[in-house]
Amino acid sequence: MTATSIGVYDFFKFGNLCCVSIKDRFVSGEMGPDTQIGTDIGHAAELLRRAGIVGIPTETVYGLAGNALDEDAVLSIFKAKNRPFFDPLIVHTYDIAEISRYVTAIPHRLWPLMEVFMPGPLTVLLPRRDLIPDLVTAGMERAAFRIPAHPVALELLRSLDFPLAAPSANPFGYISPTSARHVLAQLGGAIPYILDGGECTVGIESTIVGMEGETLVVYRLGGLAIEQIEAQIGHVKVRDHSSARPSGPGMLESHYAPHKRMIVGDIDQLLKEHTGQKIAVLSFYKKYGDGPHYILSAERDADMAAKRLYAGMRELDATDADLIIAESLPEGGLGRAVNDRLKRAAAR
Ligand code: TXA
Ligand code: MG
Repeated sequence: MTATSIGVYDFFKFGNLCCVSIKDRFVSGEMGPDTQIGTDIGHAAELLRRAGIVGIPTETVYGLAGNALDEDAVLSIFKAKNRPFFDPLIVHTYDIAEISRYVTAIPHRLWPLMEVFMPGPLTVLLPRRDLIPDLVTAGMERAAFRIPAHPVALELLRSLDFPLAAPSANPFGYISPTSARHVLAQLGGAIPYILDGGECTVGIESTIVGMEGETLVVYRLGGLAIEQIEAQIGHVKVRDHSSARPSGPGMLESHYAPHKRMIVGDIDQLLKEHTGQKIAVLSFYKKYGDGPHYILSAERDADMAAKRLYAGMRELDATDADLIIAESLPEGGLGRAVNDRLKRAAAR
């Protein structure tokens, strides 16, 4: 299927969801059933040059990449993920000079952050030039930019003469993938190729920031801790809002979620409240009960917990438990972002 031109008004015309399921597309013969995993950067680049979409590694989570300047490629990303058009995509490049080709300005307060944390798990919202299609930003004036700190992603980006739009490579709303195998499990059949760059070292998505006047606002907690940002530029505002349909920067209340119901709280208490049910436990550092369980970090290390969080949620989601119960981490460092993901995974 080829995309005709999609303008900003079409977001409203199409409504919330891009409704072609992966299964429907098999049936209609639009997509072949074969998805390959490999390490051939040249092959991935070739597919991307032909407006194809490819699973790519980054240090945070795996992305589902396509040419950010090509509406057909971007449309294919939305379809493969079943993602609503109101949820915009991050544009990935290999250096700051590249980013500056696609924006009208870089606010001075963002410079120190960009210089220190790019490449890295930081995404910045910047006023875009018209080169970036409306479809990428859901019609918003700012586009999101990120430089992934992953050697395979950087080599791929350097070999292309266009940036890559890449959301996390999971069906909309589900847990993000932190390995090529995770991508295959969910998007196998819907995409031709997954570039394998090993397990993600950070494990949760990038931290998203932007300016509102002179104030630096954090719109999504993520793999770059607030303390690290504040050490560079002083106090920042965390706009940790969530809604069913965000009008500004995307912060969906229910997200990153397993299929099973999940509850976050005091595990001993929750085990008592749910006796008689099969329970899987996702804990920070110690084991509870005798059912399926996943320990995030026996050493109580929040970075390790972030790295293992999504794999743990997937593993427990695949058990025969009725319910997953989980506990929050102490709020410091990446603990805060892990708690944010747990909260959204548990929201219904
Ligand atoms: O670490 C990451 O950021 C990963 C890797 C693949 O780079 N990407 C990722 O993309 O998490 P995604 O699409 O799953 O989440 C991007 C978030 C969404 O909540 C979206 O609403 C927000 O970024 N976003 C993207 N562009 C935006 C824009 N122009 N204005 C406001 N929010 C934006
Ligand atoms: Mg995502």
